[in-house]
Amino acid sequence: MTATTAFETELSQLISEYPRPAMAIVPALQRALDGEEGTTDARVETVVRLCGIEAEAARSFLETYPEAAGGSGPALCVGLSCYASGAGEVRERYREDPGVLGTASGPVRLVPCLGHCHAAPAYRDAEGRMFRVTLEGT
Ligand code: FES
Repeated sequence: MTATTAFETELSQLISEYPRPAMAIVPALQRALDGEEGTTDARVETVVRLCGIEAEAARSFLETYPEAAGGSGPALCVGLSCYASGAGEVRERYREDPGVLGTASGPVRLVPCLGHCHAAPAYRDAEGRMFRVTLEGT
């Protein structure tokens, strides 16, 4: 029997917020990529085990995720979770006023998922920091 790691504890908390463990797969894998405890492979194995998914599904996500997330640079997620949480309105406000997202370093890409569905609508700034977008007056 192995000791529960801080990463397992963090993942268990995240997964408990979803109706089924497998539904937490995208943010769980994002945390595996972002995490500092252990190797990425070990963190991904933990995600696979706790989310109850096939390892192949995790590998396929990890192979396509960087492209889906728009590489690096500013990005606004307009995926399902984010759209349902107001990303469409954020996108419209951005089109009217590109400064609304506070970015002065080029265009903001619209992407299908940033792996932060739990903090929707998600925005990644030019430095790679993730934010939940809130608009004044909404
Ligand atoms: S849908 Fe996953 S971060 Fe927006």
